[in-house]
Amino acid sequence: MKELFSFLSLLFLTFLLVVVEANNVTYDRRSLQINGERKLIISAAIHYPRSVPEMWPGLVRLAKEGGANTIETYVFWDGHEIAPDKYNFDGRWDLVKFVKIVQDAGLYLILRIGPYVAAEWNFGGVPAWLHYVPGTIFRTDNEPFKYYMEKFTAHIVNMMKHEKFFASQGGHIILSQVENEYGTYEEEYGEAGRLYASWAAKMALRQNTGVPWIMCKQWDVPTDVINTCNGFYCDDFHPRHPHMPKMWTENWVGWFKTYGSIVPHRSVEDIAYSVARFIQKGGSLVNYYMYHGGTNFGRTSGGPFITTSYDYDAPIDEFGLPRLPKWGHLKELHKALKLCENALLNNEPVTLGLGLLQEVDVYGYGSETCAAFISNMDTGDDKIVYFHGKSFHVPAWSVSILPDCKNVVFNTAEVGSQSSLVEMVTLDLKPSGLSPKNDLKWEVFTEKTGIWDDADDVQQGFVDHIDTTKDATDYLWYTTRLHVDSTEEFLKDGRKPMLLIESQGHALHTFVNNVHHGSAAGTDTLSPFTFEVPVTLKAGENEIALLSMTVGLQTASSAFYEFAGAGLTSVKVDGFNNGTWDLSTSKWVYKIGVQGEHLGLHMIDGPYNVNWKPTTVTPKDQPLTWYKAVVDPPPGSDPVALDMVHMGKGQAWLNGELIGRYWTMKTSAFLECDPKCDYRGEYEPAKCSTGCGEPTQRWYHIPRSWFRPSGNVLVVFEETGGDPSQIKFATRRLSGVCIYLSEEYPTIEMYSETKGEDVNHKSSFIMQLECPPKTRISRVKFASFGTPVGTCGSFAIGDCHDPSTASLVEQACWNKTNCSMELTGENFDKDLCPGIRKSLAVEAMCS
Ligand code: GAL
Repeated sequence: MKELFSFLSLLFLTFLLVVVEANNVTYDRRSLQINGERKLIISAAIHYPRSVPEMWPGLVRLAKEGGANTIETYVFWDGHEIAPDKYNFDGRWDLVKFVKIVQDAGLYLILRIGPYVAAEWNFGGVPAWLHYVPGTIFRTDNEPFKYYMEKFTAHIVNMMKHEKFFASQGGHIILSQVENEYGTYEEEYGEAGRLYASWAAKMALRQNTGVPWIMCKQWDVPTDVINTCNGFYCDDFHPRHPHMPKMWTENWVGWFKTYGSIVPHRSVEDIAYSVARFIQKGGSLVNYYMYHGGTNFGRTSGGPFITTSYDYDAPIDEFGLPRLPKWGHLKELHKALKLCENALLNNEPVTLGLGLLQEVDVYGYGSETCAAFISNMDTGDDKIVYFHGKSFHVPAWSVSILPDCKNVVFNTAEVGSQSSLVEMVTLDLKPSGLSPKNDLKWEVFTEKTGIWDDADDVQQGFVDHIDTTKDATDYLWYTTRLHVDSTEEFLKDGRKPMLLIESQGHALHTFVNNVHHGSAAGTDTLSPFTFEVPVTLKAGENEIALLSMTVGLQTASSAFYEFAGAGLTSVKVDGFNNGTWDLSTSKWVYKIGVQGEHLGLHMIDGPYNVNWKPTTVTPKDQPLTWYKAVVDPPPGSDPVALDMVHMGKGQAWLNGELIGRYWTMKTSAFLECDPKCDYRGEYEPAKCSTGCGEPTQRWYHIPRSWFRPSGNVLVVFEETGGDPSQIKFATRRLSGVCIYLSEEYPTIEMYSETKGEDVNHKSSFIMQLECPPKTRISRVKFASFGTPVGTCGSFAIGDCHDPSTASLVEQACWNKTNCSMELTGENFDKDLCPGIRKSLAVEAMCS
């Protein structure tokens, strides 16, 4: 009996322990509750393979410092299941390590398993091999697809369970996602789409993770899966079922970039506005997509035409540095929201109209715990509104946050945090093992055009590019011969026949008798293209060798996206005595990849080295050429990039790691930029864009951890031409910081009861400057209290200026890593230029 009793007590204790250890994630209309406690979730999207493990702790720390309590990532199927049942979790793919780093930082994690993810990722994350498993159709009620999808999902879930990462096991994963925005395409798949969506939800639930599943942009979720919103704004969103919290899985903080297109930017005033509006209207979870965008290393970028950089204009830039003032202003927003958390999540809002486009939502009306959000949705005018007996100046398109329903601690349009000056400092490549005075010597390997070895295929007519390469490489040679009779007139009169090409995409280099005859490509919106070029043909045999290229496989612009083809569809030559010669049905010989890939020229060492030829003068403007040099790393610890502005298109490796595709093509002349960027009004990616007339991507991030102390093998495969002697490293450095603050607007107190209260000063009335660690403010380059004009890097004195500002700021800041000063009458001459609202602008150098 005694034994039975102790056994039962032990069992009870174990049960208690398990219960205590588990973190119960539940939810209702208002929010998620973790162990019964309501949580406002501020989440930062960081995709682990878009950086390297050495960067992960720093990125997660910056997200936490920026006010996030959660990290979100997709899981990238094609990187993990590289062939059926062959898994890879090494290096950048070490998911468990990443998830552990998040856990160690004390943050929650949202795991968006997908495993279809979109994400501007090759094939939307679905492995290319799956397209070639007979009978497979992606993302529909298709047995092979569902089989592989479930197998992979279960694999990931089991890995996470094994590590006890789910909150239900005491871990920190609070939500998981299945599929991604399937609702957008579901109807295109017909009834099979509906069945698939419902199967996906059930399959997910079968995994028994013990934490809720979400499906973003999925209008027909079952009652036990939560649908969430993605977009630039989600204040109007309502989840499908009334018992579900209002959650925003993707707040796009910028946008991705494509080759030939502009550089998108979204102002932080607008992002902060969208978040504050969402929370004001009952939202309780926001995930910034992306918080760190990072880099599409290797051939991971989707497409066609997504750039290697996936910077996304995110709060942490591609290189891992905080983007200011974006990061800082959002941090202030998060602080303000945190102050409201209690009132927000434990009350339903009371909405009061304050004007045509102005409203306030009060949480905890009349109670001690009261928070209010006043918004002005006017896209043009600031407004003065009256609330609780007090006037408030609310700038256009902004939200003021009052965590006590009385005092504004934050306004989304008033950016009081510092901005920065960031430089790319270019450095010559330094030869390793030689004196720095020695010029860098490149070794060279030149590709043979066309059939460089035994043919992979021979056909009358064309094959599909992707079906032939199966995405093992970007490159596919289409080669044919044509016999020109000596009686052809063009041989005598010097006219050149025209080569007329049609391709489904993505890009092409043409060679006639080994001579480069030009290149062509589709655009991000239209991958098919046509190309016409005059060619030099000789009497007798001529070789036409066309190098077709993919530039990232489709993510999903429609249903059945995996069937979008690539490669040539028509080749003709015009100008013969008999008119046009259609070569489309001629005999074409196919060769997959280029020879250098086959020889493994990018690898660090081995027998392949024999193929390289030393040079004394680096050849330039040479198509299809591989270059190799052995270099030292750039000194210091700043992030590194490869400056490829003098090169054309190709791929580059450091120590065998593929940095990514490079392509310096300039922005299309038809696009207009908008660098002035008025934050007011709804955002779309063309708004606030920059980069017109510039190379789409000049700098290519090389993680510091890829370097060895010396003897680094840099390999470049250039397809069209360029000058490798001009390839340089560049380090990214924050060289200066700026601040721009304005005085508070005068307030009218209508009731005496609010007078004399302790007013929480908005952080935006404190000048705070901070240089990066180990650097100090070495010079105050500009300082003016008055009406300064311009922006960081180009401030100028306005009509009103206090000449003593510079010495005041110097006293407070010189030789310090950080300093602060309040914008009060004690520090600044408030009587200067009476009746004018004054501002303080400072630019300081850090070194
Ligand atoms: C969403 C998608 C994300 C990403 C984003 C644009 O629709 O869910 O994966 O592609 O668009 O960056």
